[in-house]
Amino acid sequence: MKIVTIVGTRPQFIKAAAVDRAIQGFNKRKRRIYEILVHTGQHYDYLMDKVFFEELELPRPDYHLGVGSGSHAKQTGMMLERIERVLVKEKPEMAIVYGDTNSTLAGALAAAKLNIPIAHIEAGLRSHNRTMPEEINRLLTDHLSTFLFCPTTQSVKNLIKEGIKDGETKVVKKVGDVMYDSILYYSKIAEKQSTILKDLNLLNPQSAIRNPQYYLATLHRAENTDNPDRLKSILTALNEIGKKVPVILPLHPRTKKMMSAYHLFPRNQRIRFIEPVSYLNMLKLEKNATAILTDSGGVQKEAYWFRVPCLTLREETEWMETVRSGWNVLVGIEQKKIVQEIIHLEKTRLTKKGTRYESISTGIFGDGKASEKIIQTLFRK
Ligand code: UD1
Ligand code: UDP
Repeated sequence: MKIVTIVGTRPQFIKAAAVDRAIQGFNKRKRRIYEILVHTGQHYDYLMDKVFFEELELPRPDYHLGVGSGSHAKQTGMMLERIERVLVKEKPEMAIVYGDTNSTLAGALAAAKLNIPIAHIEAGLRSHNRTMPEEINRLLTDHLSTFLFCPTTQSVKNLIKEGIKDGETKVVKKVGDVMYDSILYYSKIAEKQSTILKDLNLLNPQSAIRNPQYYLATLHRAENTDNPDRLKSILTALNEIGKKVPVILPLHPRTKKMMSAYHLFPRNQRIRFIEPVSYLNMLKLEKNATAILTDSGGVQKEAYWFRVPCLTLREETEWMETVRSGWNVLVGIEQKKIVQEIIHLEKTRLTKKGTRYESISTGIFGDGKASEKIIQTLFRK
């Protein structure tokens, strides 16, 4: 069976790597799935793109569409046109798309117009905030898809509310989160291979257990980066927190661009800005962080899986399960609130790490076999 997988951004490379391993496993045992990998080119810097293909041993894309950056309409429109050309040429029996980026929507729309069935991995998530470009992308992709693979029970419920349910015309299935598959597989490798803590001088030679002390932050959500007041408020908070404990911030190119445009690189800089890091280095940084501050979807979940307290720099999240468990706090973007929450964490939770929270082994995000379940569902005939 010929399928086309469409990816284009950092988190999609990570998700596709998990499913790709399941495809390889399937092909060893049964008949061949012939996968054609299409890279839209939405992310293109080495540290946002190739580093993941190398480290996660993803196959080289069969088609690189070289779309690059642009306004939503321009970027999505260029992708649509170029993906259509590939689909017309390759005539796949199915298209697979991931998550909620412009590459997801363009892939789904191009396939839908050609009547090619779509499998959406990470279906059913909702923030209920339609000003987010991601919310529009996921809504439309879900409504166009035939196979909807949901990471959580809540995501299945969200779809039912919109009239999308398992039945004759659609397959809606909770399979778990492919990023959980990934973290289980790669965190062991990261443990052995990543030298990032040493490279960043974060190990404390004085301590017998060499326990590092640092906060890890990531920031890239358009609602935060493209609004100078919000961006300034978050950066000021991180800078203040950094006076006591190092704050490491692998800087997304979008954020770097906006910080330069708004002249927001702090004067008395206490934040340690570094280049975006590879996935293995990121896992190592997350696992050993005292706490994580982020507006990323993927990083919120990884914090939860590593049992690291997380402050989410947004007003809402698609991952309410992590909030309800107590590991994640929706702190918003107000400088004072962020700093206060860190003080609160230091006083209470951090000293009792792992005791006050619900265990993570409750299967909220599946059992680490989401990718295999997806492949079995799609190709069981
Ligand atoms: C995109 C997704 C977002 C996802 C994120 C993952 C959309 C609408 N947004 O956001 O959902 O969470 O990826 O990281 O699809 N840039 C570079 N080099 C690169 C990539 C981007 O310099 O390799 C800069 C460009 O100035 C570009 C800006 O970052 O204009 C934003 O990139 P874009 O791909 O449009 O959105 P992201 O913010 O990366
Ligand atoms: N990530 C990474 N290096 C970084 C920042 C993030 O490898 O410098 C990984 C992170 O571990 C997670 C994924 O990228 O697996 C999340 O991607 P991102 O935050 O860009 O997007 P989102 O999940 O918000 O869509």
